[in-house]
Amino acid sequence: MAALKLAVLISGRGSNLQALIDACADPLFPATIALVISNVPGVAGLERAARADIPVVVIEHKAFADRAGFEDALNEALAGAGVELVCLAGFMRLLTDGFVSRWHDRLINIHPSLLPAFRGLHVHERVIAYGARFTGCTVHFVRPAMDDGPIIVQAAVPVQCDDDADILAARVLAEEHRVFPLAVRLIAEGRVRIEADRVVIDGARGPANALINPEAA
Ligand code: GRF
Repeated sequence: MAALKLAVLISGRGSNLQALIDACADPLFPATIALVISNVPGVAGLERAARADIPVVVIEHKAFADRAGFEDALNEALAGAGVELVCLAGFMRLLTDGFVSRWHDRLINIHPSLLPAFRGLHVHERVIAYGARFTGCTVHFVRPAMDDGPIIVQAAVPVQCDDDADILAARVLAEEHRVFPLAVRLIAEGRVRIEADRVVIDGARGPANALINPEAA
C-alpha cells in the first residue's frame, strides 16, 4: 500500500515534527511527510524539515486580511502536495469551522494534557496548580471547538510533588514523541474507525494495570 501523505503544520520548535520525521525514516513506516507548513518564519522546525529534505512552505497569517484568506493559502498548498492527513504539531493558530469541516477526520492534533482536562494554553502550570496526580498527552481528530474531538491515543504520566512546569513539560513531551507517530501509524494502517464520533481501533488493547499516584509507602 502507498504511504499515507502527511502535512505537518508547525509554529515553532518542531520537536513533534522531528518525532514524525524520525518515524518516517523507517522504510516500513506507512506514512511519509509530503509538506511542512509554518505560519511563522525562521522557526527551528523549518530547519528540521530542511535537514530531512522535506518541502517546506511558510504561510504567514499576518500577510492575510482575514482567516479565510490564510486558510485558502493553506488549502492550496495542501492540495498541491496531495496531502491526505494534516497533523497539527504545535500549530498556534485557531482554524475556522470551514477548514475543520473540509478536513473532517483527516486532521489531527497533539495536545499536552489528558483531554478533555486542561484544554488551552499554559497546561502544565494549571495541572500543577490544580494538584492533579496524573497528566499526559492526547492525539485527537480535530473538531471546531479548541482541543476537542475523538481521541486516538493518550499517554499518562505522573505528576511528582516537586515538579515545576518545565520538568513536567519535559516528561510529557517525551511521551508526545511516542504517541504522535503511533497515532499516525494506526491511521495509515487503516485501523482507526470513527463510530458515533468516538475512535475505535482495530486490534488494539490497553495496558492491564491501573496506575496509582502516590504509590503506597
Ligand atoms: C507540544 O507540547 C504540543 O503538544 C503542543 O505544542 C507543543 C509543540 O512543541 N500542541 P513542538 O513544537 O512539537 O516541539
